[in-house]
Amino acid sequence: CLFKYTFNSIFASLFKYFMKKIGVLTSGGDSQGMNAAVYAVVRYGLEKGLEVYGIHSGYQGLMDGKVEKLSLNRVENIIHRGGTILQTARCPEMKTEDGQKKAVNTLNRNGIEGLVVIGGDGSFQGAKVLSTKYGIKTIGIPGTIDNDLAYTDFTLGFDSAATVVINTVQMLRDTMTCNGRTCVVEVMGRRCGDIALYAGLTSGAEAIVVPEVGYDIDAIVARLQSNAAVGKLDNIVLVAEGVCSAEQVCADIKLRMPQISIRSLVIGHVQRGGNASFQDRLLGVKMGSRAVDCLVEGKTDRVIGIRDNAIIDEDIVEALSKQKRIDLNLYELANKLSKY
Ligand code: ADP
Ligand code: F6P
Repeated sequence: CLFKYTFNSIFASLFKYFMKKIGVLTSGGDSQGMNAAVYAVVRYGLEKGLEVYGIHSGYQGLMDGKVEKLSLNRVENIIHRGGTILQTARCPEMKTEDGQKKAVNTLNRNGIEGLVVIGGDGSFQGAKVLSTKYGIKTIGIPGTIDNDLAYTDFTLGFDSAATVVINTVQMLRDTMTCNGRTCVVEVMGRRCGDIALYAGLTSGAEAIVVPEVGYDIDAIVARLQSNAAVGKLDNIVLVAEGVCSAEQVCADIKLRMPQISIRSLVIGHVQRGGNASFQDRLLGVKMGSRAVDCLVEGKTDRVIGIRDNAIIDEDIVEALSKQKRIDLNLYELANKLSKY
């Protein structure tokens, strides 16, 4: 690490003068804020005198040579938009040596010296391979609604997706309340319960089920029964998809409380749609410009993040070795605040 740092420092000024062409791609599950980051990488990169190339459809496009020179106008009016103008893909071939060599060839053929990868944990694994095995200068920007990367407090898209969930819960409340009904709502998050936790806490969900804590049907039923005992019949149970389906939780509750009026809802891909929130736009432009600064300064093989409200960059290998944990204090707080 020390050697790498010294090496980078010595050659930083050289890179500063020699790096001319950089590439940017979006990969894995799309998320709001990816466009804001692309916007910043392109406009800030051009400002710094670089040529910026967009690679279409993530690593798949890198393999297929789908490279486009990006202009200032090409990224006009995209800062707010959900999805990604560069499109995205899941590309299993990137895990193979053949695929990786094709990707490297495309970069070399186009003279692209530095690559910004916007994506989640899987996309960062790809970036790590490109940098550690093939010497490609990479910078990662965390773009995933899941918020499942341990080195950063927040990822692009998480705030917008959680906002979709709280707005949905709010709408559900209107109808659940006047019918005295419970609704089990399934949200995204396969291994990470952050969407369920943060949206549950900020929408007053009566029960939250996350993979890190597990599924305790008895605890949920106890909560619904104690609520019923004081006349509260409308409840929201938020379940992260990685634990159990909403339908299953609904059936398990109905089995134990046959008298209950209950419905289920899977919010699904709507969570990845709509305009990026203020927070995700801000994070996108800050991270995008920091990624360009890193490349220009010769600080490569790093990932950008936000910690304690400050933008940071960290070695990609170190960042990916960290284990994401759920904030159990927040989980307990949500539990306490939603008690009747
Ligand atoms: P996300 O980036 O949102 O976590 P995925 O896990 O689907 O999404 O990963 C996106 C892409 O990153 C994969 O389709 C693949 O191209 C690449 N990728 C994932 N894991 C690896 C790996 N171990 N080595 C190389 N590339 C990988
Ligand atoms: O990783 C982001 C994510 O939205 C997960 O929350 C979800 O499980 C998955 O992607 C859905 O993937 P797909 O869009 O391929 O159905």
